[in-house]
Amino acid sequence: MAVLVTGGSGYIGSHTAIELLNSGKEIVILDNFYNSCPKVLDRIRELSGKDFAFEECDIRDADGLRRVFEKHNIDSVIHFAGLKAVGESCQKPLLYYDNNISGTVTLCQVMAEYGCKKIVFSSSATVYGEHNISPLNETMKTGGTTNPYGTTKHFIEQILTDTAKADSEWSVCLLRYFNPIGAHESGRIGESPNGIPNNLMPYITQVAEGKREFLSVYGNDYDTVDGTGVRDYIHVVDLAKGHLKALEKIEKENDTFVYNLGTGTGYSVLQVVEAFEKASGVKVPYKIVDRRPGDLATCYSDPSKAEKELGWKAEKGIDEMCADSYRWQHNNPNGYED
Ligand code: NAD
Ligand code: UD1
Repeated sequence: MAVLVTGGSGYIGSHTAIELLNSGKEIVILDNFYNSCPKVLDRIRELSGKDFAFEECDIRDADGLRRVFEKHNIDSVIHFAGLKAVGESCQKPLLYYDNNISGTVTLCQVMAEYGCKKIVFSSSATVYGEHNISPLNETMKTGGTTNPYGTTKHFIEQILTDTAKADSEWSVCLLRYFNPIGAHESGRIGESPNGIPNNLMPYITQVAEGKREFLSVYGNDYDTVDGTGVRDYIHVVDLAKGHLKALEKIEKENDTFVYNLGTGTGYSVLQVVEAFEKASGVKVPYKIVDRRPGDLATCYSDPSKAEKELGWKAEKGIDEMCADSYRWQHNNPNGYED
């Protein structure tokens, strides 16, 4: 039996694919390469020393998905496929609602046709909206999202919850990621954003590599330790390992489960810059600029539920996250284009 990994050639999916292969699982990766490229598949094979099936397919293509389910014996799905750029989602909301929401509905319909009713879903801390106070825990009210991307995550959580409520054969695990950074320690796979990075760590690594002149720090007048925004950064390999634990859970029990995947520790932008400079030995020039609209002062998790129920805990600290991010960027200055 195989695990279908949608979006498996993307940043988090590729790291999870390696962990799945290392644990002896059979996997099928499915992706349409909207935000990734075929080269990553060879790197996954190289790093795991194992082979796997790959299907180029869009999750909105029901017939394409049927062909995949006909061909492979799939009994569970880890569903990463989705679009994730907050700014783009404000400009192209219909694209985001279609790709993320319609895509997930189509995927679940085809899964059900083939009697496959176990799914782990990539959700986000963004579902906690603006009104909850950190540390965020899974009992807090979700919604009040501030952009279409976040709203797709909130709606999909609801769609999957309703699906499992209506049919007790379904088992769903919603994983709310905090801020994934870092890369595989080999420096062979990592995050490869198109164009100007939106997120902090890829921007820092590109400044360190000389591709950008300086980092713009979005505001230093927040009510935080040094005035800059505080987030819960988590190493992508720790995050990947959380998916194996989630899979074990839904293989054993049919229900809807929801877990934060974070470290429980918040770092400010300037603390991340300092940690990065220490880990890389490279100076990161920065300028303080205006706040970015929609940003929160502070966002970090209470990760205790995942520890208690899944036996999962993040192990890697900020120094390792920075060192691995830098190694990936330094060895692959143009991402997978090199
Ligand atoms: P990513 O863009 O690197 O990977 C997503 C993959 O999905 C890409 O390879 C892309 O080509 C593929 N894809 C997109 N739409 C598709 C479609 N219609 N059919 C088939 N494949 C499709 O992103 P990532 O950082 O690895 O994120 C993975 C998931 O985790 C996403 O759902 C994202 O929203 C979620 N998430 C990411 C973060 C983060 O900070 N990276 C935080 C919270 C949640
Ligand atoms: C952002 C998204 C969130 C999404 C997540 C992962 C917004 C408002 N939020 O979260 O919905 O789930 O990415 O894709 O876009 N920063 C700078 N300079 C930069 C970049 C970032 O100072 O060039 C600061 C930000 O103000 C923030 C911190 O760094 O305080 C982290 O930012 P980022 O990496 O973009 O993540 P989030 O804003 O937490």
